[in-house]
Amino acid sequence: MYSPSDDTIFLASIVSHYHGDFALEIGTSSGTILRELSKNYSITVGTDIDFCSLKRLLMMSANSRVICCDAASALCNVKFDLIVFNPPYLPNRLIHVDKNVDGGPTGIEVSIHFIKSAIDKLTNDGKILFLISNLTDTKKLATFISKNNLSVRKVAQKELFYERLQIFELNP
Ligand SMILES: C[S@@+](CC[C@H](N)C(=O)[O-])C[C@H]1O[C@@H](n2cnc3c(N)ncnc32)[C@H](O)[C@@H]1O
Repeated sequence: MYSPSDDTIFLASIVSHYHGDFALEIGTSSGTILRELSKNYSITVGTDIDFCSLKRLLMMSANSRVICCDAASALCNVKFDLIVFNPPYLPNRLIHVDKNVDGGPTGIEVSIHFIKSAIDKLTNDGKILFLISNLTDTKKLATFISKNNLSVRKVAQKELFYERLQIFELNP
């Protein structure tokens, strides 16, 4: 399980300003962000590929459900007002991959995979809210966003002594 860290707390604090009917968190792990979503959304769903972390969340709250699957792949015929993720974002070129933190060769590949999986699960005015770090190479993300005509807005930024965290809102 990913232990809640500075990135988790930062994203959870921003999520608390959003509200609506249906919200999804991809890569929910400890459920810290999902718990915040469940305060302001009628129905909340968390997914993760790590079944063990999800087992702890089975009885979390009456309006939350968790699903063990890749990104948003198990969700069909449902649309969300908000889809949130704090992805694994560290660049990794090693054979051994830690799914909690390793975001692919440049650190952004898993985020792009999450966005691709989420995009057709949004309502008409739905938003994707996600965190990235300056430790990630974001050129690939910028290319992906412009190729797909997505609009992007920086919502918040936090400087830590070892990295800069940024939260972006994406609209199709
Ligand atoms: C950086 S952790 C964030 C955990 C939690 N949301 C938080 O903010 O503390 C990334 C999470 O994404 C999950 N994850 C990685 N690849 C995934 C995938 N393909 N589908 C779903 N979850 C994935 C990991 O298991 C991990 O729990």
